[in-house]
Amino acid sequence: MKILVVGGGGREHAIIKALKKSPDCTEIWCAPGNGGIACDAICKDIKATDVDAMVAFAAEEKFDYVVVAQDDPLALGMVDELAKVGIPAFGPDKAAARIEASKVFSKNLMQKYGIPTAGYAVFDDPASVMDYIRSQGKYPVVIKADGLALGKGVLICENEAEAEAGVREIMLDKKFGASGNNVVVEEFLTGPEVSVLAFTDGKTLKPMVSSMDHKRAGDNDTGLNTGGMGTVAPNPYYTPAMAERCMEEIFLPTIRAMQEEGCPFHGCLYFGLMLTPNGPKVIEYNCRFGDPETQVVLPLLESDLLKIMRATTDETLADVEVKFSNGAAACVILASGGYPVAYEKNKEIEGLENGQLAQPMDGVTVYHSGTAQKDGKLVTAGGRVLGVSATAADLPAALKKAYAACETIRFEKMHKRTDIGARALKALEAQNV
Ligand code: AMP
Ligand code: GLY
Repeated sequence: MKILVVGGGGREHAIIKALKKSPDCTEIWCAPGNGGIACDAICKDIKATDVDAMVAFAAEEKFDYVVVAQDDPLALGMVDELAKVGIPAFGPDKAAARIEASKVFSKNLMQKYGIPTAGYAVFDDPASVMDYIRSQGKYPVVIKADGLALGKGVLICENEAEAEAGVREIMLDKKFGASGNNVVVEEFLTGPEVSVLAFTDGKTLKPMVSSMDHKRAGDNDTGLNTGGMGTVAPNPYYTPAMAERCMEEIFLPTIRAMQEEGCPFHGCLYFGLMLTPNGPKVIEYNCRFGDPETQVVLPLLESDLLKIMRATTDETLADVEVKFSNGAAACVILASGGYPVAYEKNKEIEGLENGQLAQPMDGVTVYHSGTAQKDGKLVTAGGRVLGVSATAADLPAALKKAYAACETIRFEKMHKRTDIGARALKALEAQNV
């Protein structure tokens, strides 16, 4: 099969590396891709959000299957448009992608079908939001832009002044564009967070190994929210008993709800969960693989990813094996200093050869998030630059390997967190005593 992956970050790189293990994958392309992905796939410079150009290219090149990995093209209906030209694709159609693209849609869905989530209210004008927040008088309060905002449309406000500033940013200054026409105000929840990605064909759902993201830029969860600074899998807080509970109370009710609403979900559904004192609750849904969750989840997948993906499209997921190894994985993001605000690009990256460690280490893979090739050299080209992933028999060993590998890579103003997995290790220790 000739396959096209749409996107150009670490997640797409991990998907490509996993797809290449399938005997059915004979040719693989990526659009737009990046400097490191070019070592594993043929890259074509088309913007992921340019639906018309992407679909025309896919038809012209006669791809057998397209994997739409990024949220915005899914929300724009790329899967629907590919179907119109007869090309099957991995990912939800436009109607199902609303589960991520509209917080109002997903919150109303959860309320209607009794799926546990934070209490909320929806508003379309700034004055009534503030009236509501003042009348509640409960802080911190969570304010979310309705639409896609690169993971940055969530504000946790400690007092009235912060809430006012937040509402102004989202609704008046339109920091996230039309995404901020509506806002959701949410109750603040506490507890460990768990990411669970699941394959689904609309009827059957098969969860992947759980993971834990580290969203803040700095150690000890300080600094600004980012797209994710590192991940570990499995997530020790997600016990087998909790997994069973989430399946019954959250996962299956969600796919049934989507069927009921006439928009069955095909592809990878991402459950962002918080394990609160009152049970697991949904913080957010994503309509795609997580980044950098994918960089720890797929290296542990033992089954054939291409077969599974096609089964989500063909609605035959019940017949396909989805098996993960018993080991663990860790991914440390190497970012440009200053990310997620202002940072420099075009810094030469040392320590890599053909995109991978110049001094290879067993079980270590370097996934490229923001790199480019310039005059035969690999340079930085984004905020998140590389994801250094390691698999091992257990989490302490995986973390040790990932951090050791990071030591062999250098670029100017490189920034990484030094405590990825620290909380998970503490949880494991507590479970073992
Ligand atoms: P999101 O972009 O929706 O994943 O939100 C970013 C982060 O904000 C989440 O990972 C949580 O840590 C936090 N968050 C979102 N909603 C809530 C909530 N209702 N209560 C507490 N924290 C939240
Ligand atoms: N790592 C969080 C996300 O992909 O949304």
